[in-house]
Amino acid sequence: MASATLPAGLLDALRQAGRVVFLTGSGVSAESGVPTFRDALTGLWSRFRPEELATPEAFRRDPQLVWDWYRERRRQVAAVMPNPAHHAIAALQAWLPETLLVTQNVDGLHQRAGSADTVEFHGNLFSNRCRACGHEAPQLDPEIAAPPPCPDCGELMGPGVVWFGEAIPGEALQRAWRGAAEADVLLAVGTSGLVTPAAALPEVARQAGARVAEINLHPTPLSAQADFVVTGPAALSLPAMVAALIKKSP
Ligand code: APR
Repeated sequence: MASATLPAGLLDALRQAGRVVFLTGSGVSAESGVPTFRDALTGLWSRFRPEELATPEAFRRDPQLVWDWYRERRRQVAAVMPNPAHHAIAALQAWLPETLLVTQNVDGLHQRAGSADTVEFHGNLFSNRCRACGHEAPQLDPEIAAPPPCPDCGELMGPGVVWFGEAIPGEALQRAWRGAAEADVLLAVGTSGLVTPAAALPEVARQAGARVAEINLHPTPLSAQADFVVTGPAALSLPAMVAALIKKSP
C-alpha cells in the first residue's frame, strides 16, 4: 500500500493543539466519485454555464430547469459513499472534540461519515430553501420531480445551497471566522483556495497565530503561505495523519 509522507512538525503541532479547524473543499469528496460543480456539467448539461443554473435569477427564470439540474446532482451524491478522508476527519473530531469542521461541500458526506457539527459554508444539497421568506426544510429524497411550494409563503422552494451572488449563511460565516481566529492549527484540505470568502480563512488563522497546513494533490495560492504542505490524495494523507496522532498519544 502507498504511504503518505507527513511533516513531523505537523504532527507535533497537532499534538500540542487545543483547537483545530478543517476547511474542506471538493477534493475531499473526489475519491467518493462526486464530480466538482464544473465537472458535473457534462452530457445533457454541457450546454449550460454554472451561472445559468446556480443563481437566484436562473431559478426565477426557469425553476424547473434549475430543479432538474439539482435533482441530477442529488442523485449522483445519494449513490456514493463517504471515503477514508471523511472518516479520518470524523475520527479526529472524536479524539479532539475542539475540532471545528468548515466545509464548502454541499454533498453531506462529512455528516454521513459521522461529523455531526459541520459548518456548511455553501449550504446542503439535501435541503430546500425559500428565497422569498427564508424558510428552510430538509429534502432527503433526491427524486422529488418539481420544486415544492413553501409552506410559509407559497413561493417555490429551491435547493438549500448558496448560489452565485448569494450571501454565506450568517451563522456559518460567524462560526468559521471565530474558529479560524481561535485556531492553533488550520488544515485546508482539497480546496483550490480560489473561492472567497472561504479562501480567506487560512489567512485569518495565520494572522491570529495559527499554524496552517495544506493537503492537496496540487499546489494552490495557499501553498506559499502554509507552514506545512502535504501533497497527495486526501484519502491517503488524512487517515495516515490521524492514525499517527491517535496511536502515539499517551
Ligand atoms: N485529494 C486532495 N485534493 C484534491 C483531490 C484529492 N483526491 N482531488 C482534487 N483535489 C484538489 C484539487 O487539486 C483542487 O485544488 O481539490 C481542489 C478542488 O478545487 P475546486 O474544484 O475549486 O473546489 P473547491 O475549492 O471546493 O471550490 C470551492 O467553488 O464551485 C464552487 O461552491 C463551489 O464549494 C465550491 C467552491
